[in-house]
Amino acid sequence: MVSATQSAAAELVCFNKGCRARYAITEVLYNCPKCGGLIEATYPGPLADPQQLKKTFRERRLSNRPLDQSGVWRYRELLPFLDDDRHVVTLREGNTPMLDAGTAAQYGGLAHLTFKHQGFNPTGSFKDNGMTAGTAQAVRLGMKRVACVSTGNTSASMAAYAAAAGLEALIFLPHGNISFGKLAQALEYGARTLQVEANFDEILKLVRALADRLRIYLLNSMNPFRVEGQKSIMFEMLDQRDWRVPDWVVLPGGNLGNTSAFGKALREAKDAGLIDRLPKLAVIQAEGAAPFESYWKRGGEGAFGPVAKPETLATAIRIGDPVSWPKALYEVRASGGLVEKVTEQEIADAKAQIGSCGIGCEPASAATLAGIRKLTAQGVMDRDSDVVAVLTGNVMKDPDYIYKYHTGQLEAPGGVKIRSTFGNQPIVVPNDPDEIAALLA
Ligand code: F0G
Repeated sequence: MVSATQSAAAELVCFNKGCRARYAITEVLYNCPKCGGLIEATYPGPLADPQQLKKTFRERRLSNRPLDQSGVWRYRELLPFLDDDRHVVTLREGNTPMLDAGTAAQYGGLAHLTFKHQGFNPTGSFKDNGMTAGTAQAVRLGMKRVACVSTGNTSASMAAYAAAAGLEALIFLPHGNISFGKLAQALEYGARTLQVEANFDEILKLVRALADRLRIYLLNSMNPFRVEGQKSIMFEMLDQRDWRVPDWVVLPGGNLGNTSAFGKALREAKDAGLIDRLPKLAVIQAEGAAPFESYWKRGGEGAFGPVAKPETLATAIRIGDPVSWPKALYEVRASGGLVEKVTEQEIADAKAQIGSCGIGCEPASAATLAGIRKLTAQGVMDRDSDVVAVLTGNVMKDPDYIYKYHTGQLEAPGGVKIRSTFGNQPIVVPNDPDEIAALLA
């Protein structure tokens, strides 16, 4: 799939600048055995001629080869860690649209706004971009069992890709804190699903402790190959814009795997000569689960400071101790970007605005528009900025949330009522044509 020499030279490297220990690409590592730092994949440069690469990526859109039809593997020269494309399991992930949103732009204080909607993925979130890559590596390594901790999207995605690859899937969920639609997907795809009486951060520690003992391959976002796959979200976005770089890329931040992946993708695209500058990354967190935002506001110095009891209705970003914060900090700084937080009310209202454009997304994704509104009000983002916001998940993730918002029953953690600012109540009518006609006149 890629030149043998290139993938043979792909390596895993410790992300910690003071260590930079190197390991074979086939080692099973989530942290550096020497210093505990995060691990990333690296490749020797230079790549092919950038103009030729752009042409190749574009031509592949006309191809019927599964690998070319995938919005991840179409960009395989930019994630060349495999040495054999037969390890790839694809559900034709990626291929997600760029959607212009007039009223949402206005709400956000912008003249124009484009959503890159990852909710159009096969299992409904951006996790599929990463999971196809992580699963390919699991297959390559001859793993039989894969596992993840998840508040929802990761579990649905891993379950689907594991099933497609013929691997056993083990899913660990925080009991009582998972979206029903996502649990349903995991069950349907045949994953063994364990609901643990603990929160996401606690379960992640538990599963890491169990990984060796149970010979399971972990597919959470500290898996460096998940990050490789998620880079394609930026490659595809740039390709869809004919490689014109936006001023800002806005995304929600939870465990910060996506922030790490986007930053790496953009830097590598620049190094490869595909783009000539970096967009600024704006990472938006929910107020009750914003350890990265508070660290950023403290200048990103000293101890990180996790949030012990993260709280937000945006369950996908209800994470108090994000594992990828060192990578994310590096990437946000490298891009000249920033980190901001938004309230539950701001997320809920922004979500309804995205819905009213006919687009829709899950609560975590709506943090982007809420963040944009805040940043334009502060004068940090200009009205005429060229902004791409990444909607990470599908509108069908949390239907309960939507119904409660529109009917004025939504409560933030702690019991504070969320105002139904843009509510759209269903109307109960009698089975009577005259009354209905009168109502609709
Ligand atoms: N948006 C959605 C829809 C998500 O599902 C997640 C993460 C995030 C944003 C945060 O991304 O961790 O890369 O900063 N969901 C995880 C899960 C926690 O279990 O599905 P991040």
